Parts: sequence; structure tokens; C-alpha cells
Amino acid sequence: MSESLTTVPVKAVIVAGGFGTRLLPLTTNRPKHLLEVGGVPFLEHQISRLAAAGVAHVVVATSYRAELFEPVLGDGGRWGIRVDYVQEAAPLGTAGAIRNVAAALGDDPEGAVVVLNGDVLSGHDLPAQLRDFATPREGRPVDVSLHLVEVADARAFGCVPTDGSGRVTGFTEKSEQPVTNQVNAGCYVFRRRVVDAIPEGRVVSVERETFPALVREGALVVGYVENAYWRDVGTPTALVAASRDLVLGTATSPAVPAGDQRARIDDEAIVDVTARVDGGSVVARDATVGKAAVVTGSVLMPGAAVEAEAVIVDSVLGPRARVGRAVRLAGVTVGDDAVLDPGAVLEPGRRVDCGAVVAASGAPS
Ligand code: GDD
Ligand code: MG
Repeated sequence: MSESLTTVPVKAVIVAGGFGTRLLPLTTNRPKHLLEVGGVPFLEHQISRLAAAGVAHVVVATSYRAELFEPVLGDGGRWGIRVDYVQEAAPLGTAGAIRNVAAALGDDPEGAVVVLNGDVLSGHDLPAQLRDFATPREGRPVDVSLHLVEVADARAFGCVPTDGSGRVTGFTEKSEQPVTNQVNAGCYVFRRRVVDAIPEGRVVSVERETFPALVREGALVVGYVENAYWRDVGTPTALVAASRDLVLGTATSPAVPAGDQRARIDDEAIVDVTARVDGGSVVARDATVGKAAVVTGSVLMPGAAVEAEAVIVDSVLGPRARVGRAVRLAGVTVGDDAVLDPGAVLEPGRRVDCGAVVAASGAPS
């Protein structure tokens, strides 16, 4: 029999202090957690999903650009929950960040604490994971539950083998020779007392230190395997794909209307009637798309401008970036305020720094 989860309101921590290096230049001026995906700042997907799962109090553990979170996300009132922000003076690592907010997680040592990596768009059934966590195994309460998913290539993730009963038997972060394609999906449920056991006041990695030690010491760490929609949005390609999935309806989120649209165009964007915007693109407020331009599968952040006849495919334009007449982009990431002159030639995958000017020759000036 599972213990009741309704008696104690569940708390949650979102670890959101990373630098977002793999998303540069988009993260030059903001944390990746606030980049718009599907038309809203990314953390809105996670906070609204936590609220929908019955979580009453979310603590966002911040570091890089910490001051930007609260003005964008507020106190949680719009989701009917409480949202607090705790800033680390210097990044404490994923486990250090969780330990650092322990005081805000209630004082019931047997309580449940949900922890989310702040860059994962997941459609998994969090209430089902909480029920699984609340079901004792081998006559003892579960210490930690990890959502696990199967991926084609496990090398970029935490590799997490389990035994026949679902118990986690190891945890190897970013291994060149993964022993399984079952990986850490970045959503944990911690027994409150396990958080207290994390060393305080120093950098600790939950993936490299806490989980391997818990498994080694015989703690009851279990895998909750569910292959629902799942994507880590930590690269430009993944960010654009997640945004597209939300608009087209491949992914769902309580933060945005159900997607089955070709594109999501803000009321305060200006799109010429002869332009084509589709493939799950998002055009944010104050962005403009000129005559006969094509925008497909792409994200145009606030104030971005696409001039006439330009063709933007699977690309992301940062705030106020400007793409000149007839320029063609495929899989390109353009930083804030950058300017691509008419006649500029950019190879697929190129990243253009914030404020850079790419002249007609293709060379930055
Ligand atoms: N507060 C705080 N402080 N947050 C941090 C810190 C820190 O020092 N370091 C990282 N984070 C946050 C990041 O902002 C992000 O939300 C989360 O922790 C995970 O960091 P990433 O840098 O995105 O890690 P990853 O994507 O390489 O790997 C992680 O996620 C994979 C699933 O997407 C690991 O947890 C892997 O095991 C996992 O498979
Ligand atoms: Mg990540």
C-alpha cells in the first residue's frame, strides 16, 4: 500500500543555475531557463506542470543571471502556488544547489521533494512517479526515485542501469561507453531526509557524487521508466525542436494552448501577408517578417526582424537580431542585436555573436 501524498503538500526544487554554455550566444544576456520556447519563457512549462501535479511550493535555485528570474516568473500567484528564488553566491553544483535550499523544503524528514533539471521539457506522468515513490519496496520506503528514459545515444547523459525490480544499480555521468541506453531524465523525487545528508557549503554534483554514493551505500534508489515526450533543450537545435514540437502538438504543456498550429504569431508581431510562416515557428512580440519571406520551423525572439525574401529554416533569431533581404539561413543561431547584411552567406549550424555584423562576403566585420 502506498502512503498518502495528499496529507503533506509536495515541495519542488528547480535547479536553474547553469551558464547555458551550449546555447551561446543566446545565453549571453540571460539564463537558458528564461529563453522562450513555444512562445513562453522555458521555466513556465516546468512550473505549470508542477502546479498541475499538485506541487504547492516551488523553489528555483539560481546562480547565473539570478536577478532576471523573478521579474519574469513572479511569485507563483498566476499558477495558484508559491514560487521562491534562492541565489547561490557561486554555483554549488546540482546537489549543492538542492542542499542550499533545504530550509525551504519543510521539516518532515519523510516528505517528498521533487527536483527538476531546469532545461527539460517532459510529458511524463509526474503524479504517477510520485505514487511510485510512495510505494514501499522490500519492506522499506523509497529514498530517491529517478525518472528514466531510453535514448538512442546515451553518451551525453547520466547512464542509469536498473535490476529486474527497477532498483538503480549504478549511475555514470556522460560515459563514452554507456552500459545501457536508459538515462537520467532529470526529474527526481527525494525523501526529504536524503537532502539533509548532502554535504553543505561546497560544490556537490548529484550525478557524479550523490547518486553514485547512495547506490554504493545501499540506499533504495529506484527508476521510474516512462518513455513519454522528453527533450533536454540545452542546445540551439534542441531548443528550436522543442519549440516546434509545442506549436505542432508533438509536445504539450499546461503553459501554452494545445498545439496543432502551423505557427504561433504574437498579436504584437508584424508579418507581411505575402510571407509564409509555418513548420511550428514562433514569432514573438515586436518581431517582423517582410514581403515574400519564409520562416519555417524557427524561433524569432522579441523584436527580431526578417527582411523581404529572406528564408529562415530551423533557426533561432535572438532579440532584435536582423536578417537582411534574401539572406538564407538553415540551422543558424543569431545572437541579440546581430545584423546579417543582404548578401551575407552563412553555412548551416553557424552561430553569430550578439551584436556582430555579418557583411555580404560572409565575414564578420
Ligand atoms: N543552481 C544550480 N547551481 N543549478 C545548476 C548548477 C549549479 O551549480 N549546475 C547546473 N545546474 C542546473 C542547470 O541550470 C540545469 O538546469 C541542470 O542543473 C542540469 O545541468 P545541465 O548542464 O543542463 O546538465 P546536462 O544536460 O549536461 O546533464 C544533466 O541532464 C541530463 C538530462 O537532460 C544530467 O543530470 C544528466 O545526468 C541527465 O541525463
Ligand atoms: Mg541539460
